[in-house]
Order: sequence, then structure tokens, then C-alpha cells
Amino acid sequence: MTTISKPSYRHLLDADASPEELVIAYHERTKHFFHRYAASLGSMDWATQPDPFRRYPGADLVRLVLPKPGRPLPYWQLYGLGDMSSEPLSAASISLLFRYALSLTAWKRFHETTWSLRANPSSGNLHPTEGYAVLPAIDGLGSAPAVYHYAPREHALERRAILNAKAWTQLCAPFPESSFLVGLSSIHWREAWKYGERAFRYCQHDVGHALASLRIAAAALGWGLLLHDGISASAVADLLGFSRSDDYGTAEREEPELLALVTPHLPSTYVQLLNELRGGSIGAQWCGRANTLSPEHRVEWTVIDEVAQATRRSESAPITEDFSRFPTEEQLFGSPVRDGMRTAETAILGRRSAVAMDGSTAISQEAFFRMLARLIPTRDRRSMPWDAIPWRPRIHLGLFVHRVEGVPPGLYALARDPDKLAALKEVMRREFRWQRVLSCPPGLPLYLLQEGDCRALAATVSCGQHIAGDGAFSLGMIADYIESLTTYGAAFYRNLFWEAGMVGQVLYLEAEEAGIRSTGIGCYFDDPVHEVFGITPREWQSFYHFTVGGQVEDTRLTTLPAYNFEPEQ
Ligand SMILES: Cc1cc2nc3c(=O)[nH]c(=O)nc-3n(C[C@H](O)[C@H](O)[C@H](O)COP(=O)(O)O)c2cc1C
Repeated sequence: MTTISKPSYRHLLDADASPEELVIAYHERTKHFFHRYAASLGSMDWATQPDPFRRYPGADLVRLVLPKPGRPLPYWQLYGLGDMSSEPLSAASISLLFRYALSLTAWKRFHETTWSLRANPSSGNLHPTEGYAVLPAIDGLGSAPAVYHYAPREHALERRAILNAKAWTQLCAPFPESSFLVGLSSIHWREAWKYGERAFRYCQHDVGHALASLRIAAAALGWGLLLHDGISASAVADLLGFSRSDDYGTAEREEPELLALVTPHLPSTYVQLLNELRGGSIGAQWCGRANTLSPEHRVEWTVIDEVAQATRRSESAPITEDFSRFPTEEQLFGSPVRDGMRTAETAILGRRSAVAMDGSTAISQEAFFRMLARLIPTRDRRSMPWDAIPWRPRIHLGLFVHRVEGVPPGLYALARDPDKLAALKEVMRREFRWQRVLSCPPGLPLYLLQEGDCRALAATVSCGQHIAGDGAFSLGMIADYIESLTTYGAAFYRNLFWEAGMVGQVLYLEAEEAGIRSTGIGCYFDDPVHEVFGITPREWQSFYHFTVGGQVEDTRLTTLPAYNFEPEQ
């Protein structure tokens, strides 16, 4: 048996440190530097590789009929919420929701090795995120309201708990008929197994991607989705069963992340739901016990437990922020996008990360501006997926533009909150030009900072990954970090990654629509990125990287269908 040397264990900080201090200590400690990476094993312990599929043996498995492929909804229409009628809540529409949000989209094979890919991406394809739904009685799914875990390999729901029908009715009383809840959790171990201490960040990115993919899937059904930002982690854990120690035994625990309301129409208030959940009296009868994902854990990444604890949400008032100074759809896009190349389904199920970029494909400036415009909430709060979260953007983009026709190569900034422009100017290099890109729509806050070839620079700061320099453009996501923690507390550390993941998910789909590809980049050298943009104070930090461009297909791999059962005719 291989002996694994344990990394030296240190607490993040003393026991009397505040949660915010713990977050800052974690963030600093898990930075990658040119001279050293954040602590990880440094090699793969294949004997303990986690099972990517959580299951709850003992819980009934309700198979979802695979939706018939070829839904004609155009991709652009996902963003035209309100213009389409909403699908009725049924076993078929729930199947479609999970198909588009979290299902398998392909199996890949190389020699004897096979692995699956999903609608939602994941750092290292390790998929720490688990999906849940709390649904009313639905023909073909169950005759009582219930808590379900989504099993992506089977495209099925595991019925974890049956709820008291009266309690469910009370819970949902304030909402439009046919509303229900979806939830997400993380299994930190899956990600830490490979990435060590930095893995908590990646789990949070993945939650953000999954939240956006759920929002987008709901949009394909004409439904709304709203994050319950005020609910406590312990309420989520109680509702979804993560607090039931006996159901886990030695199996890896799940960290409660979020709960969201899915509804055919957006409700005017959801405060009452929080009140009801607080009581926790949903009369659940539980079944199933979690499977163990790794035969053993030869390393415990204790700082992840510490930062998870420090960022666990307590109950709070829902966030309300003012978007009245944000641009309108017309200001952002010029003329609103009402046509395109793909159906929603081909973009969603065809989404893939590029493993290499070709170093030659250029994109039109129209495509570039449209992708960026999709990342900005509109004044009316209806732009999808930003309508799912109540806070104003805390993530801004530092762009490395390589090949965009009509846009000179160089460094650019996109201020996703127009009111943060002055603060960004203040924090970045004095010599930057901050010149409006005149050819872009008037509401798109895109600024040229410095012209020049930044291909090598982009790759260098992205841990030397060529994909960052060989695409049409890449970017660093600069978070308004300390101010966010000061305003909303340590738990908001997670929200910053979620927002970054949501930005990434939109870019993934926009790249598909434009006939190119993109890739999330979690491996970047933190402070060298700050150095590029001249950011010295700790207040602003890079939270994620991304690249978009023409991909080089890996022809050595065989692609197999996601599910081997035939779709219903
Ligand atoms: C948070 C996050 C970080 C990632 N970081 C990198 C990275 O640094 N380099 C890379 O080549 N791919 C990266 N990826 C892409 C993943 O490897 C990819 O999503 C995964 O292999 C699954 O493939 P798919 O996206 O095609 O489904 C990242 C993805 C996510 C979501």
C-alpha cells in the first residue's frame, strides 16, 4: 500500500478569530504563487478516488423518463423570460429540468478508461455538487410531497423523505401554485481528494455553475427561480436530510449550500417561506443511507472544515438592493437579441470545456459584446440568470483580449456594476487608459485599459495553461471582496464564488451559441493576476478565470451517449 505523507496541519487561526478573519486567512493560505501552489497531495491517490455518484440505497428510485430530444426552443429565447408560456408541473417537466441542469451529457472513453460529463461543469470533473428537489405530489413521481435526491447516472430521483401533506401545503401557501424547491450541497472530499486545501473554492465555483444551470433549465420551461439567500445552513440541512448523522455513518457528509424556489411566476415575497422553514416541522419520514465514496481518506483537509464552518449561513433578512441605475436591455445589447444559431437544448446539452484552444480563431465584436452584455443584470431585474440572485454584481472582469475583430488586443475591464467604475479605477494601475470602447452598445461598461499582446501574460498567470492565451479572449474575475464580507458577513464568501460560477456558466453557453468553446480556469496565480491589473490592496481579489475561443478537439477520445436507454417516442 502506498504511504501518503500527511500535510502539516495548522489551524487557520486561533480559536477566538472571527469568521471574517478565518475566511481571509483561508483565502490567503490557498493562493497559488509562482514559487508554490496551495497545499495538496501533489499526486493522485488512485486507491481512494471518490465515487462521482452519491446514492442513497434504501430510498425508492423513481426513474425520470428521458425527455424526447430535439426541443425547438431557440437558445436566445431563454433570456426572453415572460415572452413564453410556462410548462405545467409534471413528471415530464421535472425530468426536463434535471436533464438540462445536472444530468449526464456524454460518456468519454480513452483506451480502458471511461468517464462521464454533465450539463454542469466541474473543476477536475470531480463533481462535488449534489442536487435535490422538494416536490409536491406529482403523477408518475409520487403520491405525497417528498424530498428527492437527483441521481445523474440513472437520471432518476431518490425519494429520501415523504412529507406530511398538510405541512407541505402550509410551507407553500404564500407561493403560486406549482412552486417547489431545489437545493444543492457539496461533498468537499470529492474535490479535496485531488486539489487539497484550495478545493473549498472549487466546490463553491461548482455550486455557482449548478445554480446557473438550474436557473437556465427552469427558463427553458418558462419558470422562474429565486435563491433563498436568507435561510440558514442548518435549516437547509434539516430540510434536505444532511443533519441526519445516522443516514451517513462513515459515508462522506454533505455540506448544505443553498435552497431556491422554482415557480411558474415570480412571487412578490418569500419571507414567509423562511419563517415556516425555521420551524422545521415538515413531518418527514426518511429512508435511505448514503453510500461511501472512498474506501478511506488518508488525508483530512481540516482547513476546509474550518472555512466551511466560518461561512455557514445563519438566518438573515433577505438581501434587497437597488438596480435602478443599471442599463436597460436596449442599452446593453443595442437591439435585443432575437435570433441565433442554436436551440437551447443543443447549447445546454452540447456544452463542453475546451481542453486546448487553436490559437487562431477570432470572433466578431458583435459576438464579444453580446457575450459580455449577457453578464450584466438589467434595470428591470428580469435578465436571466441574474434574476435568481438579489445582490448587485460583486464580480467584475479584467479581460485579456487576443482575437476579437475590430477590438485591439490588450487589457480591458468590464464593470458589471456601473456604480463600481470609480472604485475599480481607483484600485487599478494609475496609467490605465479607461477608454470607452466606442463601437460597443452604450450600456455596456467595457473599457480599454492598455493595448498590447497579452497572450503570454494570460497563460502565465493562469498557471501556465495555454488555453488562456490561445483563445479569443480570457479573463480574471475580480471580486469586490472585503466590502462584500463587511456588508453581508463571512457566509457571503461563498456567494462571491457562486456569482463567479454563474458568470462562467453564461459564458459556457454563450460560447456554444457562438460556435466556439470556453473553459473555466480555477488554477491561476492569485497575486500575479492582481499585479497585472495593479491591484495591491487585499480588498479586491481574483476569484476565477475563464477562457473563450476556438477549440482543438481531442480526437483520441471516443464519445458515447449519456444514457443507453432509448428516449420515449
Ligand atoms: C471551477 C472550475 C475550474 C476549472 N479549472 C480548470 C483549469 O484550471 N484548467 C482546465 O483545463 N479546465 C478547468 N476546468 C474545466 C473542467 O476540467 C471541466 O469542466 C471538466 O473536466 C468537465 O468537463 P466539461 O466541462 O466538458 O463537462 C474547470 C472547471 C470548473 C467548473
